[in-house]
Amino acid sequence: MPDHQSPPVTVLGLGAMGGALAAATVAAGHATTVWNRTPGRADALVAAGASEAPSVRDAVAASPLVVAVLLDRASVHETLDPVVDALAGRTLVNLVTTTPEESRELAAWATSHGIDYLDGGIMAVPAMIGGPGSEVLYSGSRAAFDAARPVLDTWGESTWFGEDPGLAPLYDLALLAGMYAMFAGFFHGAAMVGTAGVSAADFARRAAPWLVAMTSGLAEYADVIDRRDYAGPGQQSLEFSDLSDIIGASEEAGLATDVVAAVQGLIRRQVDAGHGADGFARTVESIRGGTTPTDSTPTVTTPTVTAGGTR
Ligand SMILES: NC(=O)c1ccc[n+]([C@@H]2O[C@H](COP(=O)([O-])OP(=O)(O)OC[C@H]3O[C@@H](n4cnc5c(N)ncnc54)[C@H](OP(=O)(O)O)[C@@H]3O)[C@@H](O)[C@H]2O)c1
Repeated sequence: MPDHQSPPVTVLGLGAMGGALAAATVAAGHATTVWNRTPGRADALVAAGASEAPSVRDAVAASPLVVAVLLDRASVHETLDPVVDALAGRTLVNLVTTTPEESRELAAWATSHGIDYLDGGIMAVPAMIGGPGSEVLYSGSRAAFDAARPVLDTWGESTWFGEDPGLAPLYDLALLAGMYAMFAGFFHGAAMVGTAGVSAADFARRAAPWLVAMTSGLAEYADVIDRRDYAGPGQQSLEFSDLSDIIGASEEAGLATDVVAAVQGLIRRQVDAGHGADGFARTVESIRGGTTPTDSTPTVTTPTVTAGGTR
């Protein structure tokens, strides 16, 4: 009889992330079958109770739920195209990082072969899997998400964003865009104070609470962006937001200015188009590719997905 509390799962790919995900399902008591292209990476998992399949086909056949944690979209096709017949009737959870269009392509490919498809974006590093702060974003088949929850929830908080399989990677990559730009800003600041002999550690102690405090402004910026009301009261103007002093100080210190110059470029495009008195949030229009609200994407009036997804 199937165990509805601890359904079996197959994990394809035992790199840093696949190994951590498989270890979590083993620890939670799910019968876990593992496979890796290069042999020899399953020993610790087998010792912990996993079964190593001798081939991808055997691995797929072992469980109704198959999780791909390979490298990229090409590796998913390379691995699964030859065994697509064995995957039919099963659920494929793709946790490989892909662009939204790549996820939609994989979903269409899966659906055309009778495979239930769920895409996932892992918002954690391997050491966090199964622990506090670990979250995986999903989109695609809701039925697959609901059925797989006992397994998915062993990795962290599970959030479903909608039937469009591209939504999870869209959120995933959008969050990472914010993270990388923030870290690059921190690195730039660390290089600046470093020219005065200040350690990055000292700077981090000051930068961390400062950046946390600054995030309180995100909701206000978001409101302006959604309404596209960049001329509304109380906004810091684009002219005031000019980064010339930061760029000048960086040049004086002999530093590369790429990080701050990128932001300055976005600001300048709007100022040059005559919007200097508008608020700083108008830089989003430079990212969208235009200089006026009418020449890029439409105003957001109603959310296209449940805000923040559903858990
Ligand atoms: N690590 C993270 O912090 C993290 C966070 C979020 C998302 N992810 C995503 O999770 C996925 C796996 O990441 P990872 O950190 O585990 O990477 P990794 O340690 O480099 O492992 C890559 C895995 O993919 C397999 N692989 C690569 N090319 C393959 C191919 N053509 N056919 C079959 N198998 C192939 C490798 O097998 P071999 O052993 O045979 O090389 C290995 O099992 C990536 O898409 C990554 O973006 C990772």
